Amino acid sequence: MSKVEPARESLKNILRVERMTEHDLLEVVEIEEMCGLSRWGWEAYHAELQSGHAGLMLVLRRQQPAPATAPDKRLAGFVASRLMADELHINNIAVRPAFRRQGFAHVLLDRVLQEGAVAGAREALLEVRASNKAAQALYQRHDFRVAGRRRNYYAQPAEDALVMRATL
Ligand SMILES: CC(C)(COP(=O)(O)OP(=O)(O)OC[C@H]1O[C@@H](n2cnc3c(N)ncnc32)[C@H](O)[C@@H]1OP(=O)(O)O)[C@@H](O)C(=O)NCCC(=O)NCCS
Repeated sequence: MSKVEPARESLKNILRVERMTEHDLLEVVEIEEMCGLSRWGWEAYHAELQSGHAGLMLVLRRQQPAPATAPDKRLAGFVASRLMADELHINNIAVRPAFRRQGFAHVLLDRVLQEGAVAGAREALLEVRASNKAAQALYQRHDFRVAGRRRNYYAQPAEDALVMRATL
């Protein structure tokens, strides 16, 4: 059961959490770039999908045809994670700016944590820029707590990472 409010009802009807596939990757990379995330790029996502961890790579997909002005845009966001032993590593999560503050990151994170737990994860962990207060607030709402700090973990711009962990 989700600990947070469901995404806004009107959009919930046209957006579904689904498995990421190879066909999503151009849009995933576009969202990654527009959201200022550390760059993975097409090849890294593709390798991750091929590696057998595809169940923990999810997208938020529009079910209705996209608007005529942007017919190739069907994804509102995505989450990329990997199960390593009994730890679920959340590598990236992003929601397009036009879809933010409507509960969609909650939906994506809830789902990937649930699926990780079912797959055997007992703990989830991630790194987040020390200045990224929005993402930290999101993770805190899902019971993540700061467990450490990695100095100069990020580049462009250089910044520390906070390590956050949650028990599943
Ligand atoms: C972080 C991000 C994924 C949140 O997506 P979102 O769909 O807007 O988030 P939601 O509407 O589901 O809100 C989830 C929670 O995040 C927090 N949050 C989201 N945006 C916030 C903001 N601008 N300021 C403060 N808190 C914020 C809140 O705690 C919110 O919960 P609440 O409103 O129920 O209290 C989105 O801002 C994003 O894509 N940012 C750029 C990429 C990024 O930084 N990813 C994280 C990498 S570690």
